[in-house]
Amino acid sequence: MIQPPLGLYIHIPWCVRKCPYCDFNSHANGGVLPEAEYVAALLDDLQGEWQRTDGSRPISTIFIGGGTPSLFSGHAIQTLLDGVRARITLATDAEITLEANPGTVEAERFAAYVEAGVNRISIGVQSFNNRQLQALGRIHNCGDAERAARLAADLPLASFNLDLMHGLPGQGVDEALADLRQAIALNPPHLSWYQLTLEPNTPFYAAPPVLPEDDTLADIQEAGHALLLAAGYEQYEVSAYAKPGQQCRHNLNYWQFGDYLGIGCGAHGKITDGAAGTVLRTVKVKTPKAYLAASRGRSEQLTTVTAEDLPFEFLLNRLRLFQPFSLDEFEALTSQPATLLDAGLADAEAQQLLTRDGRMVNLTQRGRRYLNSVLTLFLQD
Ligand SMILES: C[S@@+](CC[C@H](N)C(=O)[O-])C[C@H]1O[C@@H](n2cnc3c(N)ncnc32)[C@H](O)[C@@H]1O
Ligand code: SF4
Repeated sequence: MIQPPLGLYIHIPWCVRKCPYCDFNSHANGGVLPEAEYVAALLDDLQGEWQRTDGSRPISTIFIGGGTPSLFSGHAIQTLLDGVRARITLATDAEITLEANPGTVEAERFAAYVEAGVNRISIGVQSFNNRQLQALGRIHNCGDAERAARLAADLPLASFNLDLMHGLPGQGVDEALADLRQAIALNPPHLSWYQLTLEPNTPFYAAPPVLPEDDTLADIQEAGHALLLAAGYEQYEVSAYAKPGQQCRHNLNYWQFGDYLGIGCGAHGKITDGAAGTVLRTVKVKTPKAYLAASRGRSEQLTTVTAEDLPFEFLLNRLRLFQPFSLDEFEALTSQPATLLDAGLADAEAQQLLTRDGRMVNLTQRGRRYLNSVLTLFLQD
């Protein structure tokens, strides 16, 4: 089993206010932000996670996500990244992303993040329509979103991303396309375009707003996709679009079944032990209070993925990436024989969900559309 590339995910669990559709591990900060204490806990956490690896692989990407990492001061992010660099081996060309909310952005803060080593910023715009932003419970307005994007564009960053959502309450095709056009006009190298989902345990789930009908959702999807392609973006995952060469390397590594250390509240990690032929999954304690209170051992769960589960886990991630994969890649990352996939591949091919060319496997357009059906065929194996 080969040791795949290694990333690092760092979770910052606070937001100014909790959005009614969001099920991420985020907590309204209530005006209190134990920045220094949390950074110290993160670095302690990292020390332990790094020891789980054999130290031979440099970290090639870092993603500081949330929550709202841009609530943290430039000084806190500098201390965090200095501490990371002191504890692990970081690739010289590492991609370092930080998620920012337009409502929490200040010019000085963005510049300080770059000074600290951040070279990619991901901005949660969601929509440029003030009525929609209000319905989504966002604390920013359309002007804030534009200002944040222009700030990012003017900084010496390798790239930046805008997050947009569609299928919003009462949204029609024209309104969804207007949002996309406004985003495209800001020329982000990367654009994440998510369809709003109603997640259990959120206020939107308990009292759903009126969302567009399925037909309208399909029309939005088709017209938006065409607009993005015409503007020079390539779709490389269900919701991810990028200009050529501007894919998010950190997320690519997840979908290519790569490894990552996960530190911070509720963070997930995946670590391959090539020699033992095993994959370890880690999950950290979820609440900020419990995480900060733990002096050591912040893992809530440590699970070794069984050999039987590895093939499906590989496909679950890899098929989200709209790129062909080889059966050699499958064998190298799971240490399982590719013949295990034979029955599922034959069924999927017969249903025109994917094509096979020797050892290469590729989803068809139909397969991309009905990804869950494709996966079900392998679950039966
Ligand atoms: C980890 S979230 C947080 C980013 C940042 N805190 C923000 O909200 O601006 C990343 C992205 O997931 C998307 N997202 C969150 N909840 C969603 C939902 N229920 N349906 C679709 N997209 C969602 C949003 O576009 C959001 O920007
Ligand atoms: S700001 Fe982002 S992470 Fe925080 S509650 Fe809203 S969507 Fe979730």
